[in-house]
Amino acid sequence: MASEQSEKLYSGRLTGSLDPMMEKLNSSIEVDQRLSEVDVRGSIAYAKALEKAGILSKAELEKIISGLEKISEEISKGTLVISKSDEDIHTTIERRLKELIGDVAGKLHTGRSRNDQIVTDLRLLMKSSITMLSSHLQQLIRTLVERASAEIEVILPGYTHLQRAQPIRWSHLLLSHAVALTRDLERLSEIKKRISILPLGSGALAGNPLGLDRELIRKELDFISISINSIDAVSDRDFVVEFLSTSSLIMIHLSRLAEDLILFATTEFGFITLSDAFCTGSSLMPQKKNPDSLELIRSKAGRVVGRTTGMLIVLKGLPSAYNKDLQEDKEAVIDVIDTLSTVLQVTTGVISTLQINKEAMEKALSPEMLATDLANYLVRKGMPFRQAHTAVGKAVHLAESKGVTLNHLSVEDLKTITPMIGSDVAQVFNHQSSVEQYTSPGGTAKSSVTTQIEQIKELLKKQKE
Ligand code: ARG
Repeated sequence: MASEQSEKLYSGRLTGSLDPMMEKLNSSIEVDQRLSEVDVRGSIAYAKALEKAGILSKAELEKIISGLEKISEEISKGTLVISKSDEDIHTTIERRLKELIGDVAGKLHTGRSRNDQIVTDLRLLMKSSITMLSSHLQQLIRTLVERASAEIEVILPGYTHLQRAQPIRWSHLLLSHAVALTRDLERLSEIKKRISILPLGSGALAGNPLGLDRELIRKELDFISISINSIDAVSDRDFVVEFLSTSSLIMIHLSRLAEDLILFATTEFGFITLSDAFCTGSSLMPQKKNPDSLELIRSKAGRVVGRTTGMLIVLKGLPSAYNKDLQEDKEAVIDVIDTLSTVLQVTTGVISTLQINKEAMEKALSPEMLATDLANYLVRKGMPFRQAHTAVGKAVHLAESKGVTLNHLSVEDLKTITPMIGSDVAQVFNHQSSVEQYTSPGGTAKSSVTTQIEQIKELLKKQKE
């Protein structure tokens, strides 16, 4: 077991003990213990390269690997003891390896620095986490698409400026969120190839002096390529920023979806009812059912954007190569991975369990929302659109002054505005046929929405390949 006073990795040079508050500030173990498994994997690959370079004998390699495998077992059982004085996860594993196999453990760090080690670990963790997050994201997109296809007949008011604008299909709205998320899915897969670059073998900053076969390490750890420049390799955190910004966009998309649903769940709108599984009540007002899940999704967007800006500010103006400031990266990345993972799954849960109130949606479809259709009616009769727009504006005004809705103006009334209006005008005032006009790609007609569903399914299939 570890002693509280275990030796620091650099105790040859620095003999005095660390100030307790400095120890607290310096320690990253609380966060980077999440890297323990990948750290062991990286060490096994590194040991193999050391053996190939003649630094380790076959027997020593076997000893080191068996020790590391034992540690890996302890990690999965949760029995690896972390000492308070372990600065970081590399210290813990190096110390434990020495306890298990003795002094030969000390050979493992030949030519390696924690600088190239930590960034290798982080890239390994991010590679697998992005795979996990992409699959949660795909699940959410599939859920939106399934709902859109099941509820394709439902029509509701579409809003701009939060004012009733034009009737649209409920599916069309759901798919608008799904499409945005497919771009995020693409972004995640694009950044993955820049994450998959091996820094190990860069040492502290100058490279490796032992003729190390970095290609061997790359293959062992399943990276796509190896870093080109060792100074860049230990200091580059672009990949972290790319991940955090992509995550920010995902969260912004989710928060906008959440906001739509929060509004729709109000008594005033009453378009949807959320499942109890995703709501809480009030401690004071017995009638309340609050959309906490959606509010938390919306707020977590702030958290993730904050992590992104925080990281950019840490990086700004850093001198070349490794600086301890970079230790901050892991807390940001791990927090964002965890936040996103939970939020994506909760969003999927909310979407798959909510109920729509079709009648309330239909009731909200007022005749004024067909004013654009009335203008298009005049356009089809040959009137220039700008003139038609003015004419319909006048009709809306007339209806208002008569205290009736637009569809209740008589043909005679309408004729006073323009003689081009005939008795066939009645057909305009139908929300069903209104949405069916929008057949161009991307529109709200049934045929167009059906195509969108197919297109998104196709995109999902491609992402899987
Ligand atoms: N805990 C450090 C980090 O997370 C590991 C690298 C330390 N390197 C160093 N030269 N002190 O960045």
